[in-house]
Amino acid sequence: MAREAALAALRAEAARLAPVHLRTLIAQDPARADDFALQVGPLYASFARQHYDRRALEALFAFAQACDLAGAVRRQQDGEIVNPSEGRAALHTALRGDVSPAPVARAAHAQALAAQARMAALVEQVQASGVTDVVSIGIGGSDLGPRLAVDALAPRAPRLRLHFLSNVDAHAAERVLAGLDPARTAAVVISKTFTTQETLLNGRLVRAWLGDDARLYAVSASPGRVAAFGIPPERSLPMWDWVGGRYSLWSAVGLPIALALGMEGFRALLAGAAAIDRHVREAPLRQNLPAWLALTAFWNRNLLGRATQAVLPYDERLRLLPAYLQQLVMESLGKSVRLDGTPVALDTVRVWWGGVGTDVQHSFFQALHQGTQVVPADFIGVRQAAHAHAGHHRALLANLLAQGEALANGQPSDDPHRAYPGGRPSSLLLLDRLDPGALGALLALYEHATYLLSVLWQVNAFDQFGVELGKQLAQRLLPALQGQDAGMPDDPVTRALLARLRGD
Ligand code: F6P
Repeated sequence: MAREAALAALRAEAARLAPVHLRTLIAQDPARADDFALQVGPLYASFARQHYDRRALEALFAFAQACDLAGAVRRQQDGEIVNPSEGRAALHTALRGDVSPAPVARAAHAQALAAQARMAALVEQVQASGVTDVVSIGIGGSDLGPRLAVDALAPRAPRLRLHFLSNVDAHAAERVLAGLDPARTAAVVISKTFTTQETLLNGRLVRAWLGDDARLYAVSASPGRVAAFGIPPERSLPMWDWVGGRYSLWSAVGLPIALALGMEGFRALLAGAAAIDRHVREAPLRQNLPAWLALTAFWNRNLLGRATQAVLPYDERLRLLPAYLQQLVMESLGKSVRLDGTPVALDTVRVWWGGVGTDVQHSFFQALHQGTQVVPADFIGVRQAAHAHAGHHRALLANLLAQGEALANGQPSDDPHRAYPGGRPSSLLLLDRLDPGALGALLALYEHATYLLSVLWQVNAFDQFGVELGKQLAQRLLPALQGQDAGMPDDPVTRALLARLRGD
């Protein structure tokens, strides 16, 4: 079936289901609790509380078929140019395994293994150096993934304590460096381009604070700029054009993870992701977890018109997941033109937001339960805690279960203030335990779902030109902020605000 016909069929399904309450869909088909769920490696996923039924799901799978999701996965993993606006492949999958037999992917995997061997040596070197703390300097994709993985997985008494510095606001640097001893601290400057203003400024600040260049390391795809910055090749690790920033924690960008968990932990993270790479390539559509996640997002966005998506980890260790997913999803899918440059015909990215349960139940959940906008949610839970307070964990899981049910079913009342409309869909992702393998699988799942959604929307998931204009304007305004007349902006509002900032 052609794409447009499949989309028309989907619209008919959505119209059919519009008057049917989610609670009715669930009550009419109790078997969906099992049938709308998948177990893939360490990930269990339930879509039973999504506002579709079996017929609508079939229409979604037919749409996926018409969009050739399976072919798109192969093209990405085989190293074809899936980022045509920059003429690049997106081979993050080659960083974690050899899922593809394609020569380009094989060559990339060999490069990744060589970099990992060098990374292992650097980890040993830092561990043996008497250093107790490491400051990781980077921003966006050169920060969020390592920061999340370290926050989620680092042991409570690590051999090396990791600290993360991203913001150009030097209050951040002051906070990070306060209490650290420069003589027992190393720093790693992580930047694919090595041109990022925030990272270079912070790198220079920390280098001056260290007072000794010998404990300064770098990760970059630009060895020339690293050398110009003054970090020698033996203390720098490579990355490549074929790794996108927000897909890069699996490369040497993950050095902070390896420093915090050891190389063994980092390799387990890669292996967890590699298993999902194989799954997304080999599993048929109906058993394909990233495809379910992407199709569910498409359903909520384009058939039900939901403009936002909440991500709600019920595990303190995953508190940084919403921020990580904001970049992954919104930088990848925040596009208005298709791969060929023509305007999209469908709405694309939703606003992703969220926070950790149970805290958020006492902040924005009121709006989720009774607000006028329906916000689909991804709940994420971990069955076994890594602490000894079983009662707390039971309370956490009880809340996790309760929220999904309350949102879906609601509860009528004669008092309109006390009525819960329900009909608010959610998915549940459940991990057995939070270890490097499971986290790797979880992040790879979202990466693949993001790419598949880009295929459904026909947009490029791997460029991010939208962030460039603001960066350029900021650079142009710097001289004026320094008091020079050069670089005075033409825009009257910016001029007026600048005058106020300068105290003219
Ligand atoms: O914010 C835009 C961006 O280009 C991200 O895509 C990237 O992860 C981040 O900046 C950092 O870039 P770099 O690693 O080159 O410093």
